[in-house]
Amino acid sequence: MENKAWRDSTRRSLRRVLKEKIVSQANHLAGILDLDVALPHHYLPLQALARARGVDPQKYLRGLGCHKMAVCAPGEDTVTLAAQAAYRLLQRHPLARQRVGLCVVGTESGIDHAKPVSILVHGLLGLPHQCRTFDIKHACYGATAALQTALAWVQQHPKQLALVIASDIARYPRLSPGEPTQGAGSVAMLVHADSSPSLLSFPFSSGIHASHVHDFWRPNYNHTAIVDGKFSLQCYLAALKAAYLDFCEKNQQTPQPDFFLFHAPFPRMAHKAYRSLAPLLSPHNKHFSFLEEGLSSQVLPALWPNREVGNLYTGSLYLSLAGLREHLQPPHTSQHVAFFSYGSGSCSEFFLGKLHPSPRSHTPLRAILDARVPIDVPTYEAFCEQTLALETNQTSLPSLAPLPSQPFSFLGILNHKRQYRDNTNAAIRCA
Ligand code: HMG
Repeated sequence: MENKAWRDSTRRSLRRVLKEKIVSQANHLAGILDLDVALPHHYLPLQALARARGVDPQKYLRGLGCHKMAVCAPGEDTVTLAAQAAYRLLQRHPLARQRVGLCVVGTESGIDHAKPVSILVHGLLGLPHQCRTFDIKHACYGATAALQTALAWVQQHPKQLALVIASDIARYPRLSPGEPTQGAGSVAMLVHADSSPSLLSFPFSSGIHASHVHDFWRPNYNHTAIVDGKFSLQCYLAALKAAYLDFCEKNQQTPQPDFFLFHAPFPRMAHKAYRSLAPLLSPHNKHFSFLEEGLSSQVLPALWPNREVGNLYTGSLYLSLAGLREHLQPPHTSQHVAFFSYGSGSCSEFFLGKLHPSPRSHTPLRAILDARVPIDVPTYEAFCEQTLALETNQTSLPSLAPLPSQPFSFLGILNHKRQYRDNTNAAIRCA
């Protein structure tokens, strides 16, 4: 009897070890093959906004760490930005398009209660019909939820690719404390589980934390977010600690990453995140210089583009990833990167990836940022009104000129159908 119990328990442990091995091998294969970024063509320098709002510019520049804010002009929306990032990516991987079997958009800037952004992107890009498409929403956590879904999916479908896109436009009420933290943009990622080398692979289990809080939200009847600013900072930091501890428990180890990427609603938030995590990372070293050295070597190398764009909401973390890739010029050795994804409301995830040298030529992020055009405060305010006006029925601008390097333009809404123009062949499509 005892022998049988012993045999059963041994069999169970062997099965568990085997399963863990299979999962870890599969996890090891799944990863991000490549990524690209699309940003609005215009930005507002934050000194100008500070002057117009009667605020000391140092509050925005130093206090929040924001220098420029991406602003959408008429013709740009969540869909065009998402499609533009993916278009750039697929231009670099022309054979990938026919292998895309999953297209997921993480967004909290939806354009319809029923129609996802993903199906419009699918149409504009001409993706295969044998493709699952849907949006995922949980505030700024949406893209991480989409990425994790895609990583699991490609393991079941290793011959296919998943296209994951983070796309958002951050809008706060004019004159509110959140106004200088606005921004917009998209990051598109190809996710795979085949034998080609990954840019980023994920060999560890994630730490998770969810908790229902009213720190930031946007009711269906609002164009701008409602936020309890100071409370949102507390929720973010509490979630970071909880998700980090869950990571340590699940992986039975404390991570030793080379770099930290934190969700950056404004860059100084990443400083606060690192400082609050430091006592857990290194309980015995409380020296200020140690902390500051860690901040500049492990956090700042990824944050530079966020300073020039503002909050992309769900794409913010992945813009930092693009920033880190550009900072680490190849050839570099593989680096461990810790990610903290936070979506208000709230759901968050702490995960670790291995960033490999990427020899592929990609559009330099620096060049994308430098190609943008500065605007003044009256133009920013006019763009806000014009883009909002285009979101109402029967307001189409068919002759709207495309912005430079903009493959797709949003022209307004006719008969309740959104109108997009493919600037690569001037075709107008309804959605
Ligand atoms: P505020 O309350 O007006 O600003 O708005 P403040 O008074 O806290 O000042 C900000 C910082 O500037 C402070 O630094 C000041 O000391 C400093 P700190 O003490 O925090 O280190 N400062 C100055 N520095 C230099 N010279 C000066 C000066 N004056 C002040 N003259 C707040 C700040 C973040 C609340 C506001 O911008 C806001 O509501 N933002 C939106 C909410 C947000 O970003 N929350 C972050 C956590 S939640 C999150 O990340 C999720 C989110 O992305 C949404 C999603 O999930 O979808 C937002």
